[in-house]
Amino acid sequence: MSYTPDTLARLQADAAQIIARYPDGHSRSALLPMLHLIQSVDGYVSPNGIDFIAATLDLPRAEISAVATFYTQYKRHPTGDYLVGVCTNALCAVMGGDEIWEKVSEKVGVGSDETSEDGKITLERIECNAACDYAPVVMVNWEFFDNQSPESALEMIEDIQAGRDIHPTRGPIVAPTFKENERVLAGFLDGHENEGPSAGPATLLGREIAAKNGWTEPVADKAADQAPTKATKASTKASNKKGVKAK
Ligand code: FES
Repeated sequence: MSYTPDTLARLQADAAQIIARYPDGHSRSALLPMLHLIQSVDGYVSPNGIDFIAATLDLPRAEISAVATFYTQYKRHPTGDYLVGVCTNALCAVMGGDEIWEKVSEKVGVGSDETSEDGKITLERIECNAACDYAPVVMVNWEFFDNQSPESALEMIEDIQAGRDIHPTRGPIVAPTFKENERVLAGFLDGHENEGPSAGPATLLGREIAAKNGWTEPVADKAADQAPTKATKASTKASNKKGVKAK
């Protein structure tokens, strides 16, 4: 492990806080936030970071790598200051996501999972972010930029390239850097967690319509759910008979 003494001391102090969130004897449960912590320092899940986690949580390196390579939020090579993800899943794609991707990729000069030479921007095509009501969507360090167009996305890229702040549609007023957001995902809040709206009008529309019409969710009839119906009784009988014959 080759962290400087200062970095190592900081990592150890942060790791102790993360582990303390879990019951005694369950430190392995801290793996996911620990991976975010490493990304907040190295910008990806580095070999150094894997060594640190292995020693701290007493886990085999292979187990840590297996988890880190399963989730797309964990990166296998250094990530730029701004991870720009363009949703090209079905709905966003037909609403303009494919065109946004082409323009943004051309502007930055890299493809998916690649980083600009100055280390400012990593681009990736992303799958649905459950924000289809605001399609097409672009995520920057996992903050939402809703209802994008090629023009608005290019403007945001130009702002990043020029070192200007960028402003998500929801969430924090100013988008944090990749490493800053990774620290938040490790569970160390930055004081911006309550800024901006989290759900917008399109997300809440169904709820408003239901409230206006006095619609409520159906209440389950537990007794009816538990009592077997004639049909299920008949089908159970039939399968039992088949089972007996088969023997
Ligand atoms: S398809 Fe893009 S957010 Fe759902």
